[in-house]
Amino acid sequence: MAWSDGILDDIRRRVGLVDVIARRVKLEKRGREYIGLCPFHGEKTPSFTVNESKGFYHCFGCGAHGDAFGFVMRTQGIDFPEAVKLLAREAGVTLRSDFDPQERQKKSGLYTLLAAAQAWFQTQLNNADGAGDYLNRRGLTAQTINNFHLGWAPQSRHALRDGLRDQGFSEELMIEAGLLIKPEGGGAAYDRFRNRVMFPITDVQGKTVAFGGRALGTEKAKYINSPETRLFQKSRLLYAWSQSRPHIYQAKQGLVVEGYMDVLALHQAGLTTAVAPLGTALSEDQIRLLWKAVDEPILCFDGDSAGVRAATRAAERALPLLRPGQSLRFAMLPSGADPDSLIARQGVEAMKECVAAAVPMVDWVWRGLVADARLETPEQWAALKRRLQKIAGHITDSGVRDEYRRALMDRFWRLRRSSGGQANRQTMPPGASGRSSRRDPHLEVKILLALVLSHPWLATEMSEELGFLDIPDPGLDHLRQAMIECSDCGQLDKADLIRQLIEQGHGTAVERLDTVRIQSYLKRMDNTRHNVRQTWQEHMGFLRQTALRAELRAAGAAFANHFGDHAADRRFWALKRRVQEEEKKLANPPDCADQER
Ligand code: UTP
Ligand code: MN
Repeated sequence: MAWSDGILDDIRRRVGLVDVIARRVKLEKRGREYIGLCPFHGEKTPSFTVNESKGFYHCFGCGAHGDAFGFVMRTQGIDFPEAVKLLAREAGVTLRSDFDPQERQKKSGLYTLLAAAQAWFQTQLNNADGAGDYLNRRGLTAQTINNFHLGWAPQSRHALRDGLRDQGFSEELMIEAGLLIKPEGGGAAYDRFRNRVMFPITDVQGKTVAFGGRALGTEKAKYINSPETRLFQKSRLLYAWSQSRPHIYQAKQGLVVEGYMDVLALHQAGLTTAVAPLGTALSEDQIRLLWKAVDEPILCFDGDSAGVRAATRAAERALPLLRPGQSLRFAMLPSGADPDSLIARQGVEAMKECVAAAVPMVDWVWRGLVADARLETPEQWAALKRRLQKIAGHITDSGVRDEYRRALMDRFWRLRRSSGGQANRQTMPPGASGRSSRRDPHLEVKILLALVLSHPWLATEMSEELGFLDIPDPGLDHLRQAMIECSDCGQLDKADLIRQLIEQGHGTAVERLDTVRIQSYLKRMDNTRHNVRQTWQEHMGFLRQTALRAELRAAGAAFANHFGDHAADRRFWALKRRVQEEEKKLANPPDCADQER
């Protein structure tokens, strides 16, 4: 859009640079200039000057420099055309519009109607019994209710229609604005919103263009929104954007949450950078809108499976849009919480912690891909590598794409190296193939118990590890217990121990260890204590690793589900490290390494 210099000068002159700046900066007159603390960098002695006659401000500290439009742009996070429109409105200057005058007139009629509807809903809230109570019960203060112009649509099919008609608005306009529904089969138009708390939705300039309505009770639709109109496109606006934008810009932080109530609760708790999409997933336009005010908006998702899905979708949508310097961060709320309930239950600090733990886009993408990837074979590693390449390929900007490739590959190689050799050298137990994942934990447990039977001293030496074994089979479990409790095992020989166990009623369990597979495996063993210990360690290691893997899978699920939950996060990576350490031990038992040297 192009404006003549004349009209821009006119706006500058009318608003007055000092007046515009004085709203943000405490100014003192010094000679011909004004001086104050620079709003663009932290300083204790003033180096920010404003020269009304020259028409610009200048900071000797940080070099910030500009006119009234520039100042509004920088302090409110808006672009030049928006700054011009904003100051023009304040100055009472009418900008020549590129739009068709008829269209403009229609829009202005709708704006007026919607403003009247908002006022009407607000009046109803004060009159209605119950609705105010509901909002109070939800923890909203009168001030919040006021700031967000919340209202009430009574349980009536005609109350709004009649009220606005009395003010001179036509039914056609109310239908066009989405306030009334015109039945398809004819008949009288009726109020769309009934028995609902009303949330006005404003456009980027702060003018009301639509409403969201929340049912008090258990109606089928918890929220309904206005339909799209010439003023309202739901994928291009954000709830509370016009209120939040200056804060987002100043704080260099923008929080995108899922619900209207969340936005209200956050603002009330002092987190005034919160906005929400309008009942849909975050759109590309909404991401672009956010980027006008902040480089890395933080998307906060509810701690439930829907939240995880929404987060994944948002990441997919944002990837192609990434540009140098512009990205997203992701914060996952604790399980079962949305911002509103988190603040109510644990206070605003809990919310702030969650926000502080937001992860950069690149880590979100990385973790999403590795969290449940199986990484045991070369093929699986190669598959992960390909998925990483493919994800990076979705980025349109070549500079960002290259950096993503590099960043993801760096993480890949770090993980790849730390996971050590994959070709596990193992003393193969009977019936097991070379793949550790195919080994049967039940058989492994039996081998360990049979080892103790053959070498009773193990029961004493390894009693702790024996105690920690997870043995679901009750017969074998009792046998293990008896082995641990056998106090003189260190002196007993094989026959003595077996006799003792049979006497204690563990005969059946002992017999179950006497299979051809197990016995022939044990017979082939070298029976030096050193070797027996090593064999024990090898089987124990396998079981420990299996248990760890199961834990890792569970932690991985928790990790994917509770982003931002530090504990789940730490646990996941700690487990991953332990599994890798165990794998390394299995691949290179310390004794073997000694012998090789
Ligand atoms: P939520 O179900 O999380 O609602 O939906 P909420 O904001 O936490 O509301 P309370 O706390 O139950 O009052 C999140 C958002 O999804 C949209 C609304 O925009 C809502 O704020 N939504 C939800 C709908 O459009 N329709 C619905 O029926 C439900
Ligand atoms: Mn909620």
